[in-house]
Amino acid sequence: MAQEAAIHLSGVTKRYPGVVANRDVELKVMPGEVHAVVGENGAGKSTLMKIIYGMVQPDSGTIEVDGRAVHFRSPREAIEAGIGMVHQHFMLADNFSVLENVILGSEPKSGVRIDFDTAATQITDLGKRYGLPLDPGEKVERLSVGERQRVEIIKVLYRGARILILDEPTAVLVPQEVSELFDSIRDLKRQGVTIIFISHKLDEVLEIADTITVMRGGRTVGTTTPAQVDARELAEMMIGSELPSPETRESTVQDRVLLEVSGLSLANDVGRALLKDVSFKVHAGEIVGIAGIEGNGQAQLVDALIGLEENATGRIVLAGDDLVDNEARDRRAAGMGLIPEDRQRQGLLLPSPLWENAALGHQYRRPFARGIWMDRREGRRQTEEIVRRFRVKTPTVDVPATALSGGNQQKLVVGREITAEPLVLIAAQPTRGIDVGAQAAVWEELKRARAAGLGILLLSADLEELIGLSDTIHVLFKGEFVARLDPAQVTPEDLGTYMTGAAKQVAV
Ligand SMILES: Nc1ncnc2c1ncn2[C@@H]1O[C@H](COP(=O)(O)OP(=O)(O)OP(=O)(O)O)[C@@H](O)[C@H]1O
Ligand SMILES: [Mg+2]
Repeated sequence: MAQEAAIHLSGVTKRYPGVVANRDVELKVMPGEVHAVVGENGAGKSTLMKIIYGMVQPDSGTIEVDGRAVHFRSPREAIEAGIGMVHQHFMLADNFSVLENVILGSEPKSGVRIDFDTAATQITDLGKRYGLPLDPGEKVERLSVGERQRVEIIKVLYRGARILILDEPTAVLVPQEVSELFDSIRDLKRQGVTIIFISHKLDEVLEIADTITVMRGGRTVGTTTPAQVDARELAEMMIGSELPSPETRESTVQDRVLLEVSGLSLANDVGRALLKDVSFKVHAGEIVGIAGIEGNGQAQLVDALIGLEENATGRIVLAGDDLVDNEARDRRAAGMGLIPEDRQRQGLLLPSPLWENAALGHQYRRPFARGIWMDRREGRRQTEEIVRRFRVKTPTVDVPATALSGGNQQKLVVGREITAEPLVLIAAQPTRGIDVGAQAAVWEELKRARAAGLGILLLSADLEELIGLSDTIHVLFKGEFVARLDPAQVTPEDLGTYMTGAAKQVAV
């Protein structure tokens, strides 16, 4: 007898107003395999995962778990059936400990006291078993992104999941963390856990997956294996066109300095230096890249530049004016644009319609305002323009931002900031979570804006992107610029040695 599938979906359809998110989907995940699901932004991956996890109910179709038909009405029922999900956007409570977050929602029924000691031991044991080390007593707000993700995974395993859904787990990780996660995935698999893995990074998919299902326009269009396809062929299955790559054209760097930062320093409450004497220039038409492992001062650098870090000292001169004492709003008005790293927390008002989101941060000026009034008509027109140019997949500009897929939310934020025509744009992880086709479109837009004289400060964990787009690269390590490199001469490996602190330039 053939082996029973761990998950078997058949004819699954899910409609939203104006969109068919999943259409007649077929998916078969075998027990103990790593099954990747790939597809463009808005192809329907997250929706399908939410259906398996009981968060979303399909309009039609059947779902079998281990050969038995199920109708989950909530994640609780999916969890009881052994299914766990780690979302594209983390859902942890920051000011609680690892232990509290893990047991939150799975406390024993009333009357029974929670045994914190046992739970803490279990967390430590799970961590050892699957290579996910964590301190149960640590506050989540103090954890790195990679560690937060471990908490999410442990939380799911703690509830007894045998089928683990990971929606874009690597989007937020640096290469070192990705390889740690992959080691854990291999451990989980060896111990019989079934894993569904979503990623836009096709080389990762080819490395970790046993089986790959491709989605396009809400449908599953095929199933393959890493032995049968390469990244290019996989991309072609997804989008029906060639895999683009970032290449630099000739330099568009002008003599005019738009942003000059000098001696920028910042210390935390206990006097530890977070930024040490950071100095750089961004010229008109130049992309200055910042490389660094997350947590080496990138967030502080961005906050200091945009005015969210009051204690920063030094000079931040934008087009001749020192802004170091100006508020965030004034800096924006002076021409400082920002694509924030965390689109959901800093970049969007999730319950509000797209056209309001497109105005966010720019609501006081044209085309979103006329005098003191908001100009809805022009605002909507401008939003439609962003949607078209940046290929945001949406039925209308009136749907709330929550209705967009993760990658399409990102495209909206990128489009808003580029079309606002700032003097200098700080772009933090601009293509995070964006599919390969749309990524090329964003690269093109950044290059076009650069050619038109925009200065760009690019922070990216994607080293290929950084090397492909930048005119100059600085490496940030422990709050300090430790190297200045020419992207034309440098490889990702070279960058890596500076990023980990293994090497440092004498004079930068
Ligand atoms: N709650 C919702 N309300 C309305 N439309 C939605 C909702 N959730 C998803 N959609 C729509 O369903 C489609 C599929 O979205 P989904 O999030 O599943 O895509 P995805 O493949 O995960 O994309 P990404 O790679 O960008 O994360 C999109 O067109 C999206 O706009
Ligand atoms: Mg998604």
